[in-house]
Amino acid sequence: MADESQKWVLMVTAQTPTNIAVIKYWGKRDENLILAINDSISVTLDPAHLCTTTTVAVSPAFNQDRMWLNGKEISLSGGRYQNCLWEIRACANDVEDEKKGIRITKKDWENLHVHVTSYNNFPTAAGLASSAAVYSLAKLMNVQEDNGRQGSGSACRSLYGGFVKWVMGKEENGSDSIAVPLVDEKHWDELVIIIAVVCSRQKETSSTSGMRETVETSALIEHRAKEVVPKRIIQMEEAIQKRDFATFTHLTCADSNQFHAVCLDTSPPIFYMNDTSHRIIGCVEKWNRSEGTPQVAYTFDAGPNAVLIARNRTSAALLLQRLLFHFPPNSETDLNSYVIGDKSLMEDIG
Ligand code: DP6
Repeated sequence: MADESQKWVLMVTAQTPTNIAVIKYWGKRDENLILAINDSISVTLDPAHLCTTTTVAVSPAFNQDRMWLNGKEISLSGGRYQNCLWEIRACANDVEDEKKGIRITKKDWENLHVHVTSYNNFPTAAGLASSAAVYSLAKLMNVQEDNGRQGSGSACRSLYGGFVKWVMGKEENGSDSIAVPLVDEKHWDELVIIIAVVCSRQKETSSTSGMRETVETSALIEHRAKEVVPKRIIQMEEAIQKRDFATFTHLTCADSNQFHAVCLDTSPPIFYMNDTSHRIIGCVEKWNRSEGTPQVAYTFDAGPNAVLIARNRTSAALLLQRLLFHFPPNSETDLNSYVIGDKSLMEDIG
């Protein structure tokens, strides 16, 4: 290392948007290369409203890896972040900062520690996967891979705005497993996404270990990956192209429910949703049925929070009104807040 004084710090900050899958990725055929067992489709959320900002720093003065999420230090021992860190370290390359006179070789990375701080501009929401940390670390360590999948498969879909498909690909080396933009954010801009934060606790079963257990033990997952999802992907692409909200809602809700069904079919079973999540599903289903045409689609990732996609602003305002009625703030339910992109929606409902 060029600098022996131990006083230098090198930092990288990156912002990554969040995406929400409407046809879920669940299960890998190759864990190292992060290759999925089915295609998936997601919508990327506007980073102005929902994104994660991460700063990573490296210095010879650091004597251990440390990480803070929204200002709170989290334990790294034996967890997925630690594994992830080592995976990225293994791919690190030489880094040079001429201005600061710093040169870090590939070998140096093995003995250097990093500090990672990550902030979400929304309440830490269990199950809303974000891989800003991985992205910033890869940048800091000059990792050459650019398929966007470092550390987390679903992250590659955040490479683009609008609706994005992650094609599972066929090649063993993963060369054809890529994110493909389907339509940009302007194509279907009347949709309004509301996230009902049911619980901001960290999820108990990480997606990585959950999907591994599903692939190993569920009898249903093969049927889902081979028979159900391929058909849904075709139908979903068509619904998105045509802005066909009824078909979009049917597919989105059905796919979320099937994803949670395969979690339940896993041994031991994985429960990501809780009673409040189930009540939200009940409310939305009832409302959609009573209206005749669907107004809102729901989807849940690896956690209890509901992602609700309303067909337009009017439906979104009505939805918020209903949610506030059924789940009043500070009531006994554990639905603690709503994250909405457009704060003026609250004004619409008075
Ligand atoms: C339920 O991308 O977090 O959100 O690749 O193991 O890091 P790893 O999993 P991750 O899984 C996300 C699963 C999901 C569905 C989805 O986003 O498609």
